[in-house]
Amino acid sequence: MENQVTPERRPVVLSAIQPTSIPTIGNYFGALKNWQTMSEDNDCLFAVADLHALTVHPEPAKLRQQIIEMYATLLSLGLSPEKNIIFIQSMVHAHAELAWILDCYTMFGEAQRMTQFKDKSQKHADNVNVGLFAYPVLMAADILLYQADYVPVGADQKQHLEIARDIAERFNNLRGATFKLPEPYIGKIGARVMSLQDPTQKMSKSDVNPKASVFLFDSPDLIMKKFKSAVTDSEAQVRYADGKDGINNLMSIYSCCTGLDFDAIEKEFEGKGYGDFKVRVAEAVIEEIRPVQEEYARLMKDKAFLMQTANEGAEKASRIAYRTLQKAKKKVGLIVDK
Ligand code: TRP
Repeated sequence: MENQVTPERRPVVLSAIQPTSIPTIGNYFGALKNWQTMSEDNDCLFAVADLHALTVHPEPAKLRQQIIEMYATLLSLGLSPEKNIIFIQSMVHAHAELAWILDCYTMFGEAQRMTQFKDKSQKHADNVNVGLFAYPVLMAADILLYQADYVPVGADQKQHLEIARDIAERFNNLRGATFKLPEPYIGKIGARVMSLQDPTQKMSKSDVNPKASVFLFDSPDLIMKKFKSAVTDSEAQVRYADGKDGINNLMSIYSCCTGLDFDAIEKEFEGKGYGDFKVRVAEAVIEEIRPVQEEYARLMKDKAFLMQTANEGAEKASRIAYRTLQKAKKKVGLIVDK
Protein backbone atom coordinates (compact mmCIF):
# COMPACT_ATOMS: atom_id res chain seq x y z
CA MET A 1 0.00 0.00 0.00
CA GLU A 2 1.14 3.51 -0.72
CA ASN A 3 1.76 5.87 2.15
CA GLN A 4 -0.79 8.41 1.01
CA VAL A 5 -1.39 11.32 3.30
CA THR A 6 -4.76 12.94 2.86
CA PRO A 7 -5.78 16.06 4.78
CA GLU A 8 -8.16 14.00 6.95
CA ARG A 9 -5.57 11.44 7.83
CA ARG A 10 -2.43 12.69 9.51
CA PRO A 11 0.60 10.42 9.33
CA VAL A 12 0.72 7.78 12.04
CA VAL A 13 4.02 7.63 13.92
CA LEU A 14 4.82 4.86 16.36
CA SER A 15 7.69 5.02 18.83
CA ALA A 16 8.55 2.57 21.56
CA ILE A 17 11.16 2.51 24.23
CA GLN A 18 12.28 -0.31 26.49
CA PRO A 19 11.89 0.23 30.23
CA THR A 20 15.29 -1.21 31.05
CA SER A 21 17.07 1.99 32.08
CA ILE A 22 16.51 5.67 32.80
CA PRO A 23 17.33 7.53 29.56
CA THR A 24 20.59 9.47 29.36
CA ILE A 25 20.84 13.07 28.20
CA GLY A 26 22.13 11.45 24.99
CA ASN A 27 18.73 9.77 24.49
CA TYR A 28 17.10 13.06 25.47
CA PHE A 29 18.96 15.38 23.10
CA GLY A 30 19.18 12.70 20.39
CA ALA A 31 15.51 11.72 20.31
CA LEU A 32 13.13 12.28 23.24
CA LYS A 33 13.36 16.06 23.13
CA ASN A 34 11.96 16.01 19.58
CA TRP A 35 9.00 13.76 20.37
CA GLN A 36 6.92 16.69 21.55
CA THR A 37 7.43 18.53 18.23
CA MET A 38 6.80 15.33 16.29
CA SER A 39 3.45 14.91 18.03
CA GLU A 40 2.25 18.28 16.80
CA ASP A 41 2.04 17.23 13.13
CA ASN A 42 1.40 13.50 13.43
CA ASP A 43 -0.90 11.04 15.13
CA CYS A 44 1.58 9.55 17.56
CA LEU A 45 1.61 6.39 19.58
CA PHE A 46 4.22 5.97 22.29
CA ALA A 47 4.72 2.56 23.84
CA VAL A 48 6.70 1.23 26.75
CA ALA A 49 8.10 -1.96 25.20
CA ASP A 50 7.96 -4.10 28.33
CA LEU A 51 7.58 -7.43 26.52
CA HIS A 52 10.88 -6.81 24.75
CA ALA A 53 12.55 -6.30 28.13
CA LEU A 54 11.70 -9.88 29.18
CA THR A 55 14.39 -11.24 26.86
CA VAL A 56 17.09 -10.28 29.38
CA HIS A 57 15.26 -11.84 32.40
CA PRO A 58 14.92 -8.73 34.59
CA GLU A 59 14.09 -9.17 38.26
CA PRO A 60 10.25 -9.03 38.34
CA ALA A 61 9.80 -6.40 41.08
CA LYS A 62 12.42 -4.23 39.43
CA LEU A 63 10.83 -4.58 36.01
CA ARG A 64 7.40 -3.60 37.42
CA GLN A 65 8.97 -0.45 38.86
CA GLN A 66 10.86 0.34 35.65
CA ILE A 67 7.71 0.03 33.53
CA ILE A 68 5.95 2.65 35.67
CA GLU A 69 9.05 4.85 35.64
CA MET A 70 9.28 4.75 31.86
CA TYR A 71 5.58 5.47 31.51
CA ALA A 72 5.97 8.48 33.82
CA THR A 73 9.04 9.53 31.83
CA LEU A 74 7.02 9.66 28.61
CA LEU A 75 4.37 11.82 30.27
CA SER A 76 6.99 14.06 31.85
CA LEU A 77 8.37 14.93 28.39
CA GLY A 78 5.19 16.92 27.92
CA LEU A 79 3.49 14.41 25.62
CA SER A 80 -0.22 14.78 26.14
CA PRO A 81 -2.12 11.53 26.79
CA GLU A 82 -5.20 13.13 25.25
CA LYS A 83 -3.59 14.07 21.95
CA ASN A 84 -1.39 10.97 21.72
CA ILE A 85 -1.83 7.32 22.58
CA ILE A 86 0.66 6.53 25.35
CA PHE A 87 0.53 2.93 26.47
CA ILE A 88 2.26 -0.10 27.89
CA GLN A 89 2.81 -2.78 25.24
CA SER A 90 1.88 -5.84 27.34
CA MET A 91 -1.48 -4.27 28.27
CA VAL A 92 -2.54 -4.58 24.62
CA HIS A 93 -3.03 -8.30 23.92
CA ALA A 94 -2.87 -7.90 20.16
CA HIS A 95 0.94 -7.39 20.20
CA ALA A 96 1.80 -10.89 21.41
CA GLU A 97 -0.92 -12.41 19.25
CA LEU A 98 0.09 -10.75 16.00
CA ALA A 99 3.73 -11.49 16.80
CA TRP A 100 2.94 -15.23 16.68
CA ILE A 101 1.24 -14.93 13.31
CA LEU A 102 4.18 -12.90 12.00
CA ASP A 103 6.66 -15.45 13.40
CA CYS A 104 5.16 -17.85 10.91
CA TYR A 105 5.81 -15.38 8.10
CA THR A 106 9.42 -14.68 9.11
CA MET A 107 12.19 -16.85 7.78
CA PHE A 108 14.68 -18.33 10.23
CA GLY A 109 17.53 -17.16 8.04
CA GLU A 110 16.46 -13.56 7.89
CA ALA A 111 16.01 -13.33 11.69
CA GLN A 112 19.42 -14.96 12.10
CA ARG A 113 21.03 -12.19 10.07
CA MET A 114 19.99 -9.44 12.52
CA THR A 115 23.21 -7.89 13.80
CA GLN A 116 21.68 -7.05 17.19
CA PHE A 117 20.78 -10.71 17.67
CA LYS A 118 24.32 -11.72 16.77
CA ASP A 119 25.83 -9.12 19.11
CA LYS A 120 23.54 -9.93 22.00
CA SER A 121 23.94 -13.67 21.70
CA GLN A 122 27.68 -13.23 21.82
CA LYS A 123 27.55 -10.89 24.81
CA HIS A 124 25.05 -13.01 26.75
CA ALA A 125 26.01 -16.48 25.60
CA ASP A 126 24.36 -17.95 28.73
CA ASN A 127 20.89 -16.69 27.78
CA VAL A 128 20.28 -16.91 24.05
CA ASN A 129 16.54 -17.50 24.31
CA VAL A 130 13.97 -17.77 21.54
CA GLY A 131 12.52 -14.42 22.60
CA LEU A 132 15.80 -12.74 21.80
CA PHE A 133 15.67 -14.35 18.37
CA ALA A 134 12.05 -13.37 17.73
CA TYR A 135 12.51 -9.87 19.18
CA PRO A 136 12.39 -8.09 15.77
CA VAL A 137 9.16 -9.91 14.92
CA LEU A 138 7.46 -8.58 18.06
CA MET A 139 8.76 -5.15 17.10
CA ALA A 140 7.24 -5.62 13.63
CA ALA A 141 3.91 -6.45 15.30
CA ASP A 142 4.16 -3.24 17.39
CA ILE A 143 4.51 -1.20 14.24
CA LEU A 144 2.20 -3.01 11.82
CA LEU A 145 -0.76 -3.22 14.23
CA TYR A 146 -1.19 0.55 14.00
CA GLN A 147 -0.57 0.81 10.24
CA ALA A 148 2.22 3.24 11.15
CA ASP A 149 3.55 5.43 8.35
CA TYR A 150 6.72 6.34 10.18
CA VAL A 151 8.91 5.03 12.98
CA PRO A 152 11.68 7.18 14.49
CA VAL A 153 14.64 4.83 14.82
CA GLY A 154 18.27 5.25 15.69
CA ALA A 155 20.99 3.50 13.73
CA ASP A 156 20.79 0.42 15.98
CA GLN A 157 17.12 -0.20 15.12
CA LYS A 158 17.24 0.49 11.37
CA GLN A 159 17.70 -3.14 10.45
CA HIS A 160 14.71 -4.05 12.62
CA LEU A 161 12.54 -1.58 10.76
CA GLU A 162 13.71 -3.09 7.47
CA ILE A 163 12.77 -6.60 8.57
CA ALA A 164 9.36 -5.26 9.66
CA ARG A 165 8.85 -4.01 6.11
CA ASP A 166 10.04 -7.31 4.65
CA ILE A 167 7.66 -9.30 6.86
CA ALA A 168 4.75 -6.98 5.99
CA GLU A 169 5.54 -7.22 2.31
CA ARG A 170 5.76 -11.01 2.36
CA PHE A 171 2.46 -11.24 4.24
CA ASN A 172 0.75 -8.78 1.89
CA ASN A 173 2.00 -10.66 -1.17
CA LEU A 174 0.87 -14.04 0.11
CA ARG A 175 -2.42 -13.07 1.78
CA GLY A 176 -3.45 -9.76 0.23
CA ALA A 177 -3.03 -6.16 1.33
CA THR A 178 -3.11 -6.09 5.13
CA PHE A 179 -0.27 -3.98 6.49
CA LYS A 180 1.08 -0.57 5.62
CA LEU A 181 4.83 -0.60 4.95
CA PRO A 182 6.48 1.65 7.56
CA GLU A 183 9.27 4.08 6.80
CA PRO A 184 11.89 5.69 9.02
CA TYR A 185 10.80 9.01 10.46
CA ILE A 186 13.11 11.75 9.31
CA GLY A 187 12.64 14.58 11.75
CA LYS A 188 14.91 17.19 13.12
CA ILE A 189 18.28 15.51 13.55
CA GLY A 190 19.07 15.25 17.21
CA ALA A 191 22.53 15.70 18.63
CA ARG A 192 24.89 12.77 19.01
CA VAL A 193 26.05 13.07 22.60
CA MET A 194 29.33 11.37 23.45
CA SER A 195 30.62 9.83 26.69
CA LEU A 196 32.02 12.37 29.14
CA GLN A 197 34.92 10.03 29.90
CA ASP A 198 35.72 8.77 26.41
CA PRO A 199 34.34 11.33 23.95
CA THR A 200 35.14 9.13 20.97
CA GLN A 201 32.32 6.79 22.10
CA LYS A 202 28.58 7.49 22.14
CA MET A 203 27.11 8.13 25.59
CA SER A 204 25.53 4.84 26.64
CA LYS A 205 23.02 3.78 29.29
CA SER A 206 25.12 0.75 30.12
CA ASP A 207 28.59 2.31 30.42
CA VAL A 208 30.47 0.73 33.34
CA ASN A 209 32.11 4.05 34.21
CA PRO A 210 29.52 5.92 36.33
CA LYS A 211 30.99 9.30 35.32
CA ALA A 212 30.61 8.63 31.59
CA SER A 213 26.86 9.14 31.28
CA VAL A 214 24.44 11.73 32.65
CA PHE A 215 20.97 10.33 33.28
CA LEU A 216 17.81 12.35 32.81
CA PHE A 217 16.92 12.06 36.49
CA ASP A 218 20.37 12.60 38.02
CA SER A 219 20.29 15.26 40.73
CA PRO A 220 21.68 18.71 39.84
CA ASP A 221 24.65 18.06 42.17
CA LEU A 222 25.50 14.82 40.45
CA ILE A 223 25.16 16.40 37.01
CA MET A 224 27.54 19.17 38.06
CA LYS A 225 30.05 16.62 39.38
CA LYS A 226 29.95 14.55 36.20
CA PHE A 227 30.51 17.57 33.97
CA LYS A 228 33.33 18.86 36.16
CA SER A 229 35.17 15.58 35.68
CA ALA A 230 34.54 15.44 31.92
CA VAL A 231 37.61 14.57 29.86
CA THR A 232 38.90 17.49 27.76
CA ASP A 233 42.35 18.33 26.34
CA SER A 234 45.39 20.37 27.30
CA GLU A 235 44.87 23.30 24.94
CA ALA A 236 42.66 25.24 27.36
CA GLN A 237 40.75 26.98 24.59
CA VAL A 238 37.03 26.55 23.99
CA ARG A 239 36.87 26.03 20.24
CA TYR A 240 35.40 23.39 17.95
CA ALA A 241 38.17 21.52 16.15
CA ASP A 242 39.36 18.10 15.04
CA GLY A 243 40.95 16.15 17.83
CA LYS A 244 39.16 18.12 20.56
CA ASP A 245 36.45 15.48 21.02
CA GLY A 246 35.75 16.31 24.65
CA ILE A 247 35.32 20.04 24.08
CA ASN A 248 33.40 19.45 20.85
CA ASN A 249 30.99 17.25 22.79
CA LEU A 250 30.51 19.84 25.56
CA MET A 251 29.97 22.56 22.96
CA SER A 252 27.39 20.49 21.18
CA ILE A 253 25.54 19.80 24.46
CA TYR A 254 25.69 23.51 25.33
CA SER A 255 24.36 24.34 21.89
CA CYS A 256 21.39 21.96 22.39
CA CYS A 257 20.48 23.74 25.63
CA THR A 258 21.01 27.34 24.56
CA GLY A 259 20.41 27.27 20.81
CA LEU A 260 23.75 29.09 20.33
CA ASP A 261 25.95 28.07 17.41
CA PHE A 262 29.61 27.15 17.83
CA ASP A 263 30.88 30.62 16.85
CA ALA A 264 28.75 32.24 19.51
CA ILE A 265 29.89 29.70 22.09
CA GLU A 266 33.56 30.30 21.22
CA LYS A 267 33.00 34.04 21.68
CA GLU A 268 31.21 33.59 24.98
CA PHE A 269 34.13 31.62 26.41
CA GLU A 270 37.01 33.53 24.86
CA GLY A 271 39.80 33.86 27.39
CA LYS A 272 37.98 31.63 29.87
CA GLY A 273 39.23 28.29 31.14
CA TYR A 274 37.68 24.85 30.83
CA GLY A 275 36.65 24.97 34.50
CA ASP A 276 34.25 27.86 33.88
CA PHE A 277 33.01 26.31 30.67
CA LYS A 278 32.19 22.95 32.26
CA VAL A 279 30.24 24.64 35.05
CA ARG A 280 28.22 26.64 32.52
CA VAL A 281 27.44 23.53 30.45
CA ALA A 282 26.31 21.68 33.57
CA GLU A 283 24.11 24.62 34.61
CA ALA A 284 22.56 24.80 31.15
CA VAL A 285 21.78 21.06 31.19
CA ILE A 286 20.30 21.29 34.70
CA GLU A 287 18.11 24.21 33.57
CA GLU A 288 17.05 22.46 30.36
CA ILE A 289 15.85 19.26 32.03
CA ARG A 290 14.48 20.84 35.19
CA PRO A 291 10.84 20.90 33.95
CA VAL A 292 11.07 17.23 32.94
CA GLN A 293 12.54 16.31 36.32
CA GLU A 294 9.88 18.26 38.20
CA GLU A 295 7.02 16.76 36.25
CA TYR A 296 8.49 13.28 36.67
CA ALA A 297 8.77 13.72 40.45
CA ARG A 298 5.20 14.95 40.59
CA LEU A 299 3.85 12.04 38.51
CA MET A 300 5.75 9.39 40.45
CA LYS A 301 3.86 10.51 43.56
CA ASP A 302 0.55 9.88 41.81
CA LYS A 303 0.49 6.17 40.94
CA ALA A 304 -3.30 6.18 40.71
CA PHE A 305 -3.18 8.77 37.95
CA LEU A 306 -0.40 6.90 36.14
CA MET A 307 -2.34 3.62 36.24
CA GLN A 308 -5.56 5.25 35.10
CA THR A 309 -3.78 6.97 32.22
CA ALA A 310 -2.03 3.72 31.28
CA ASN A 311 -5.36 1.89 31.27
CA GLU A 312 -6.96 4.53 29.08
CA GLY A 313 -3.97 4.48 26.72
CA ALA A 314 -4.16 0.69 26.45
CA GLU A 315 -7.86 0.87 25.68
CA LYS A 316 -7.35 3.41 22.89
CA ALA A 317 -4.44 1.42 21.45
CA SER A 318 -6.42 -1.83 21.67
CA ARG A 319 -9.26 -0.48 19.57
CA ILE A 320 -6.89 0.26 16.68
CA ALA A 321 -4.74 -2.83 17.15
CA TYR A 322 -7.78 -5.13 17.30
CA ARG A 323 -8.96 -4.07 13.83
CA THR A 324 -5.62 -4.98 12.27
CA LEU A 325 -5.36 -8.20 14.25
CA GLN A 326 -8.84 -9.36 13.16
CA LYS A 327 -7.94 -8.59 9.55
CA ALA A 328 -4.71 -10.57 9.78
CA LYS A 329 -6.43 -13.51 11.49
CA LYS A 330 -9.05 -13.64 8.76
CA LYS A 331 -6.44 -13.45 6.04
CA VAL A 332 -4.51 -16.45 7.39
CA GLY A 333 -7.67 -18.54 7.79
CA LEU A 334 -8.36 -18.33 11.50
CA ILE A 335 -11.96 -18.14 12.66
CA VAL A 336 -12.87 -14.65 13.72
CA ASP A 337 -15.97 -14.10 15.80
CA LYS A 338 -18.41 -11.39 14.68
N1 TRP B 1 13.63 -2.39 20.05
C1 TRP B 1 13.52 -1.00 20.34
C2 TRP B 1 14.75 -0.54 21.13
O1 TRP B 1 15.32 -1.29 21.86
C3 TRP B 1 12.28 -0.69 21.12
C4 TRP B 1 11.06 -1.02 20.34
C5 TRP B 1 10.18 -2.03 20.55
C6 TRP B 1 10.57 -0.29 19.23
N2 TRP B 1 9.16 -1.99 19.66
C7 TRP B 1 9.37 -0.93 18.82
C8 TRP B 1 11.03 0.86 18.55
C9 TRP B 1 8.63 -0.45 17.76
C10 TRP B 1 10.27 1.33 17.47
C11 TRP B 1 9.08 0.66 17.08
O2 TRP B 1 15.12 0.60 21.04
